[in-house]
Amino acid sequence: MCGIIGFCGEEEAVPVLLEGLEKLEYRGYDSAGVAVISGDGVIRIRKRKGRIASLREKIEAEEPLPGTVGIGHTRWATHGEPNDVNAHPQAGMSGRIVVVHNGIIENYREIRQFLERRGYKFLSETDTEVVAQLMEYYYLGKGDLMDAVYSMLDRIKGSYALGILCSDYPGQLIAARKDAPLLIGYGEDGNYIASDVTALLSHTRTVSYLEDEEVAVITKDQVTVYDAGRLVVDKELHTVEWDVSAAEKGGYSHFMIKEIMEQPEAVRKTLSPRLRDGRIFFEELGEDPAFIRNCSSIYIIGCGSAYHVGVVGKYMLEKHLRIPAEACLASEFRYSDPIVGPDTLVIVISQSGETLDSMAALREAKRRGARTLAIVNVIGSSIAREADYVIYTWAGPEIAVATTKAYSTQLLLISMLTVYFKDQLGKITPEEYDEYVDELLALPDKLDQVLARVGNIQKTASKYFNLDSMFFIGRNLDYALGLEGSLKLKEISYIHSESYAAGELKHGTISLMEPGVLVVAIATCESVLDKTFSNMVEATSRGADAVVLTTEEHAGNFEKTVKAVLSVPSTHDLLQANLNIVPLQLFAYYVALNRGCDIDKPRNLAKSVTVE
Ligand code: M6R
Repeated sequence: MCGIIGFCGEEEAVPVLLEGLEKLEYRGYDSAGVAVISGDGVIRIRKRKGRIASLREKIEAEEPLPGTVGIGHTRWATHGEPNDVNAHPQAGMSGRIVVVHNGIIENYREIRQFLERRGYKFLSETDTEVVAQLMEYYYLGKGDLMDAVYSMLDRIKGSYALGILCSDYPGQLIAARKDAPLLIGYGEDGNYIASDVTALLSHTRTVSYLEDEEVAVITKDQVTVYDAGRLVVDKELHTVEWDVSAAEKGGYSHFMIKEIMEQPEAVRKTLSPRLRDGRIFFEELGEDPAFIRNCSSIYIIGCGSAYHVGVVGKYMLEKHLRIPAEACLASEFRYSDPIVGPDTLVIVISQSGETLDSMAALREAKRRGARTLAIVNVIGSSIAREADYVIYTWAGPEIAVATTKAYSTQLLLISMLTVYFKDQLGKITPEEYDEYVDELLALPDKLDQVLARVGNIQKTASKYFNLDSMFFIGRNLDYALGLEGSLKLKEISYIHSESYAAGELKHGTISLMEPGVLVVAIATCESVLDKTFSNMVEATSRGADAVVLTTEEHAGNFEKTVKAVLSVPSTHDLLQANLNIVPLQLFAYYVALNRGCDIDKPRNLAKSVTVE
């Protein structure tokens, strides 16, 4: 979703801002802009609908933007269509206060009316312009910048990460946050703000995370952070381990394919620190056996792909722990009056750790007294910091909007947690445990084997990329995986696609089966394999084509019946999904490639969804 970069330093701000904005492009946006303040206090703004490249052209074509302090923004439209006027930065009427903003100001209408009654004229339809105008109103009235900042923050309701310039203070920028991520980067050539660490990696690895209601005043050689009561806060500095190359394409044509190919490594990095002498450790949980023994129910919460991991988790945890487990969409959880209390374990899964719905669900779970455990990829993100326990996926930066390696590492952790808890409950035999660990150790190599079969998947994708409709079917864990296969396909190729529990097809959806429809049958769960096969035949009998994803040992049985078989090696039941997902990701990728889609930045989508 929207991205923020800000710089206060020695060198010209424009190149730093544009480079930062390019690094934020992956989050999804539809317009972009920068504002730079010159030494004599003139704030110049350039903004444009469309890509950063087009903003760059505009900047190069027009009068220069001198200055070493500035803010930049990529906007994903919420209030007002994507156009030049609604793009950020937004300015107060006199041009003294200029603002970039991520989040939503819920009471913006009421404030706008308040200001309009006092003669303020608005140019855009955005809630952000209200922030700039309101702050200017207070600044002109009070004459003190920090008073104006705090009065404005007191008045607005909603979520915000803000970067603010004031023409009377050409050497500084101000940042503030509530319920939207914002971090400060401490560099040798100056200081930075950013909504996402990837925008800072080429300048600094030293960061601090702004907490809700904190305000930072940033100059080129100083950062001062204040809390809501205007007391100075001593911020803890963190070193970011991700390196720059991890956030670059490295010779691949898209981040998505690079990230698919990185999965063996991501899985290795996620499992190795937690595996010693054939035993699984989750030191993050405090090694407290009571953690799971006292648990009477489990909720696994997430959005999109993270929710799909939750569905996998539901099947795994419930079956092996014999504790009722439910996967719940984060956006539904908080409004569904869930049965959650101190003996409930709520697992929140999120790549970004900033998804607003997931964050709100986490807070709701905590409010009801549940024990909360977050599985998160971005270190220091809001969800990671607010949950009682956090387990990190070590997938590294994920840039493509369509998640792949983060999803895989989440799957892995849910599987490992299942075995870890099962052991703590005394429900696993030593033989079973060893068998699982053996397969765990073999997983990265088996993933390499699956990736080596890319040619077959490419061929299948080039056969079907022109279709309008596809269905993913499977039972049990295969069904859970179909949800993700279907989402991957539709989000990047724009082909209509749905996922069904195979047995459900004949209760309505089978009426859609006809020539020109493709059914992707996932048939790897031994206990229900024959049943999935029958459901697939029901579809092909009505003229649909079928592609089957199955294990090597069953591939031969399917080859006679269907047009294409995608096979994967067999592994432990609790790890099979990790192998199965790869052909589905590759299939979606090559279908989208054949269709000429903007794979890393699909239309209308954002990497991190920070609005409700
Ligand atoms: O950052 P999160 O894991 O919380 O994001 C959740 C979803 O927005 C995300 O998984 C989304 O569905 C992806 N685009 C799927 O590829």
